[in-house]
Amino acid sequence: MKTVLITGGAGYVGSSAAKAFSENGYRVIVLDNLIYGHKEFVQWGNFIEGDIGDTSLLESLFSNYKIDMVSHFAAFAYVGESVKNPRKYYDNNLVKALTLLNQALENDVKVFQFSSTCATYGNPTHIPITESHRQKPFTPYGKSKFFFEEILRDAAFSYNIRFSILRYFNAAGADPGGKIGEDHTPETHLIPLVLDAASERRPHIEIFGTDYDTPDGTCIRDYIHVTDLAAAHVLAAEKTYDAESTIFNLGNGNGFSVREVIESARTVTGRNIHVIEGNRREGDPAKLIGSSAKIMTELGWKPKYASLDKIIETAWAWHQKRFQDH
Ligand code: UFG
Repeated sequence: MKTVLITGGAGYVGSSAAKAFSENGYRVIVLDNLIYGHKEFVQWGNFIEGDIGDTSLLESLFSNYKIDMVSHFAAFAYVGESVKNPRKYYDNNLVKALTLLNQALENDVKVFQFSSTCATYGNPTHIPITESHRQKPFTPYGKSKFFFEEILRDAAFSYNIRFSILRYFNAAGADPGGKIGEDHTPETHLIPLVLDAASERRPHIEIFGTDYDTPDGTCIRDYIHVTDLAAAHVLAAEKTYDAESTIFNLGNGNGFSVREVIESARTVTGRNIHVIEGNRREGDPAKLIGSSAKIMTELGWKPKYASLDKIIETAWAWHQKRFQDH
């Protein structure tokens, strides 16, 4: 049985990955400092509360457990905040991540898996975005992820470790089992905010910009279900462990506009959703759609929750359960 250390395993995507690795026969160790994570999301594997930048904690963790793989999710991920406070992002997503990588190298870890992002591509020159699209991030968040990808490439060239880089598009939906899902504070993501408006936790949803060069004037994104993301992590980790370093995009290959997301939420919830049309949010590209052809062809991965309604159905079930008393 292989042991995987999942950093950020109490978070939205990390907790789903912990479940997927555990269900696929891995021993799971979760490391999370609970700044953004939720302790109750750690339901698969052992939990260690702590920081990826804490060298002495990492030393004891790696000596107590024989870690075969690290799957690294722990990161700050508010794009707007990263512009206002870049050093927070470089410190956590880069410097502390390097501390973690050093410990992995010292302790003979075979695979270092990394949650990267479509934000490393910057403004796309072509759609759908393939893995070979040039990388030109323009926010500190995107750059912190890109720089760490570069470090991983160098590490794999020079040391006995392989990388598995996964570049996500818009993670969405909730675990169909209903035990884990999206709960960020503050919440900035479209789907949970739309569901807040549906459940009257918030008075309305504001559309950030209706004058984009898209069919309905609102931004188009590629929403990928978190369970599909998690399954891809296991496949990619296995391929990397057995064969070679890998880089894969993870998206649905379908784009949906902000208005389409709101319309789907109206259908799924049966609720009225009050919409306000606002100004553009700085830094939002009009259209981001990923090509996941590479992971489909090479690893046989296929999204189970490709339809937007299905994604929102799982998010709504979770949302009602999680927030019914709030
Ligand atoms: N949006 C609104 N109103 C809101 C919130 C969002 O109209 O209240 C719009 C945004 O402008 C955007 C779309 O909904 O067009 C999706 O926005 P999200 O904030 O949900 O997601 P992003 O596409 O901005 O961000 C995602 C990931 C980031 C990643 C980024 C890459 O969450 O981690 O994609 O661009 F960096």
